[in-house]
Amino acid sequence: MQIFKKKNALIHCLSLLKEKNKLIGFVPTMGALHKGHQSLVKNSIENNDVTVVSIFVNPTQFNNPDDLKKYPKTLKEDLELLENIGCDFVFIPTVEEIYAQAVVSKSYSFDGIENQMEGKFRKGHFDGVATIVQAFFEIIKPDTSYFGEKDFQQLQVVKKLTEKENIPVKVIGCPIYRENDGLAMSSRNIRLSKEQRSEAPFIYQTLKKVVGFAKTKSVKDMYEFVKNEFATTSLELEYFTIAEENTLAEVSEINFDKKNRAFIAVNIGGIRLIDNISL
Ligand code: PAF
Repeated sequence: MQIFKKKNALIHCLSLLKEKNKLIGFVPTMGALHKGHQSLVKNSIENNDVTVVSIFVNPTQFNNPDDLKKYPKTLKEDLELLENIGCDFVFIPTVEEIYAQAVVSKSYSFDGIENQMEGKFRKGHFDGVATIVQAFFEIIKPDTSYFGEKDFQQLQVVKKLTEKENIPVKVIGCPIYRENDGLAMSSRNIRLSKEQRSEAPFIYQTLKKVVGFAKTKSVKDMYEFVKNEFATTSLELEYFTIAEENTLAEVSEINFDKKNRAFIAVNIGGIRLIDNISL
């Protein structure tokens, strides 16, 4: 496994491989890797000749400075995990290497997708995500890139980014990886106290109940149900939304001819957890 800190060295190495028509797979990450990341990397390794993983905690996508400061960093373990599963290249740039002097996002429009859910609660978040993903796509020029469905809105934003900016990268969404008790894997989970961790599976349990109700209850009743469920816990419900998958526009009733998903964001002692489920 080769580690790159400088983009020019990585660009040079990848250009030699591209001359030989090697397929390049890319998994962008912010480190603190878990089994969810691992499944993305394995998917890339199985379907490409060369897999590149980036580890970069992107400052421009954090609207909350405290969240950025506390974002877990486990570089040594991350590198061991990547080496063990057979990753080829790891890109670990500094903030200066990526942003030069100005640590700012570009501003994008993604047909409204960016303004729903996370967009309402994390101002500028998707501009930051799109800025860094576009920068990585330009450096790495992968054939295919892999994103987890836990951040479903991010996945749709990245798909729109490639469409709007004519970036020839195939974007693949991979299923959510869960702990045995159903909690969606997230780098932020390691920040949960023992008590918070034991409460967190309630999020997925509630989503599963919603799936059970989808054919019989109205959307309004499901919203009411979820609100009441969380009112009895110390998990603070930030939003619960049922939306159509492609536009992410909220629906007032479910049309089963289309794909719909329920989305949730919860705050536990300043730690934000999100999850979603197909209905
Ligand atoms: O999902 C993440 O970890 C980040 O948003 C990403 C895609 C690596 C961009 O910084």
